[in-house]
Amino acid sequence: MPASGKTEIRVLALFASPRKTGASSSIHESFLLALGPASIRRAYLYEMEIRPCTACGHCSAISECVFDDDMTPLYAELDEADLLSISMPLYFSGPPGPLKLFIDRTQVLWESARRAKKHREGPVIGNLICTGGARYTDMFLPSITIIRHFFNSIGFDYERSDFLLYPDMEGLTGANIPKKHLIRAGIAGEALGKRLKTAYRGAQ
Ligand SMILES: Cc1cc2nc3c(=O)[nH]c(=O)nc-3n(C[C@H](O)[C@H](O)[C@H](O)COP(=O)(O)O)c2cc1C
Repeated sequence: MPASGKTEIRVLALFASPRKTGASSSIHESFLLALGPASIRRAYLYEMEIRPCTACGHCSAISECVFDDDMTPLYAELDEADLLSISMPLYFSGPPGPLKLFIDRTQVLWESARRAKKHREGPVIGNLICTGGARYTDMFLPSITIIRHFFNSIGFDYERSDFLLYPDMEGLTGANIPKKHLIRAGIAGEALGKRLKTAYRGAQ
C-alpha cells in the first residue's frame, strides 16, 4: 500500500472515452466521488499524445521508454497509485485506441518487474468500468481479458467481480443516464474506498 511518508490514498483515474460527459465518464465520476478522501489524478487519454510502442526492445535492458511524451508523467503516477481506475466504452468489443496505446506502453513496467523478479510492494488495486451500446453474449469478455492481463502484468490486484460492466448504453450521457447506474457505481466506489482505507491503515 502507500509507501512510507504518504498521507493519503492515491488514485490514477484513466478516462478512455472521447466524451468527457458520456456514459462511462459519468459513471466513473460517481465511482470516484464515493471513494472518500483520496488524491485523484484524472487522465483523459483522448487529450493526450501517447505514441504506440514500437517493440524497439530498449526497455528490456533499461527501465525507461525511448519516447518522451504524455506517457512519461503517467509512469510516475502509476508508480504512486494505490488504485488504478479505468473507464472505457467498448469499441468493437475492445478498448478504444488511446487506452490500448497506454497499456502497450506499460511494457516498460512489465520488463522492469521481469528483471527484478518482483512487482510493487503491497496490494495495489485495479478496477474497470466499461459501457457498451448493445447487448450480446460475452460482449465484455475480450476487454476483460485484456484488462486482467494488463493488471497482472503491472502487479495490480483486482477482483473480477468488482468490474462494473454496463450493456445497453447507446445514446446515454451524463444528462440522461438512469440514476440506478450512477448509484451502482457509487456503492461500488464506497466499498472499494473502505477496503483501500483498511489496507492503508494496515500499512502504516
Ligand atoms: C467506434 C465505436 C465502436 C463501438 N463498438 C461497440 C461494440 O463493439 N459493442 C458495443 O456494445 N458498443 C459499441 N459501441 C458503442 C459504445 O460502446 C457505447 O455507446 C458506449 O456506451 C459509449 O460510452 P461513452 O459515452 O462513455 O463514450 C461503439 C461505439 C463506437 C463509436
